[in-house]
Amino acid sequence: RIAALHGRRVWDSRGRPTVEVEITTAGGQRGRAIAPAGASRGSAEASDLRDGGTRLGGYDVLTALDRVRSIIAPALIGMAVTDQAAIDATLDRLDPSPTRQLLGGNATVATSLAALHSAAAVRQMPLWRYLNPAGVRHLARPEVQIIGGGAHAARRVDLQDFMLIPLTAATIGDALVHIAEVHLAVGALFAARGPAHGVADEGGHWPALARNEQALELLTLGIERAGFRPGIDLGISLDIAASEFERGGSYHLAAEKRSFSRTEWLAVVGQWLQAYPIIAIEDPASEHDPIGMRAATAAFAARALIVGDDYLVSDPQRIATAAREGACNTALIKVNQAGTVTRAWQAHAAARAAGWATIVSARSGESEDVSVAHLAVGWGADLIKVGAITRGERTAKWNEMLRIDEELGGLPLAPFPLR
Ligand code: PGA
Ligand code: ZN
Repeated sequence: RIAALHGRRVWDSRGRPTVEVEITTAGGQRGRAIAPAGASRGSAEASDLRDGGTRLGGYDVLTALDRVRSIIAPALIGMAVTDQAAIDATLDRLDPSPTRQLLGGNATVATSLAALHSAAAVRQMPLWRYLNPAGVRHLARPEVQIIGGGAHAARRVDLQDFMLIPLTAATIGDALVHIAEVHLAVGALFAARGPAHGVADEGGHWPALARNEQALELLTLGIERAGFRPGIDLGISLDIAASEFERGGSYHLAAEKRSFSRTEWLAVVGQWLQAYPIIAIEDPASEHDPIGMRAATAAFAARALIVGDDYLVSDPQRIATAAREGACNTALIKVNQAGTVTRAWQAHAAARAAGWATIVSARSGESEDVSVAHLAVGWGADLIKVGAITRGERTAKWNEMLRIDEELGGLPLAPFPLR
């Protein structure tokens, strides 16, 4: 039973306040979790409750913490901590809006995950095992950022995420070695071009580039320089995050001062797909452009995973509808988009029911919280996406994957869905 539930203000990787919830059971077991925060959010996802005003740029979470203290704690204290469905149903009842306007998605996700961690502690199991006591056969394959852009790098380039997926690495340990080699090689290529580069929000190189395509060129060259075969040993994965640069049905690459109709834009993406070893594309069209998302899926799904993030917002109904309409073939799952563990799990199950691949993902604002690694392994996701192989809030997750793999005695990575 939940004996105490306590919220506190802690900090995320952008130096912004966020919500941590800690639960103590009657038996003295504890679990806690920290809410992450997105920067390029889908309009239909659970939204964080922020104080507004001027303190801490309006990002403070004292109102959300008050909701934890005055509404959530009284409702949950006394409930069985292992009954995740009932706990999450209570959160749903207290705030039925999918966007979690009343309680705040930051309050609900921290609470829901804290309950899950407490339940695993009660059962004296690591969380991944608690989620999948029948046994895990594969480990989620890493999808790792090398170059950041878009909303995560002051829009220096328009695309948000230039990532790699290792394909021939046999284990998570080898996969991260391959990634680190290319991260270093791409860093050397940037350094050779001049000093103007930094670190993007998810830890990748912040490009000093004039055109989006140059990032694809550098990434492909970096794979070669590191001694790997592009498209065979490592494939490129893009998070285009097109909602960020679509206005009124046209797509505007601000960094290049070029605008495109939907058809022209998808032709550009198609050219990139021809020219570079791209094996996954997230949000190629805007969340407001279902026609574009269906067209992208019809055109590219044979060669690349078509991943819905802003388009699906980890919503089981949206996933089912998209599958019916032929938009996307892979769901990005973010617990804080759904607001609770149960709803995110339902989204994962809806993707599986549609025959889709799944990617369990962190956010651009993160912390040392490693829940996402356990969910990816426990739910049997195909891939896990947590940003670059730098910065503590990212390496916390990768390092947890290494520990889990060791506990499991070394597991093969989940097969890449298209091969
Ligand atoms: P966000 O971006 O966490 O800033 O929303 C991550 C993503 O788009 O996948
Ligand atoms: Zn995304």
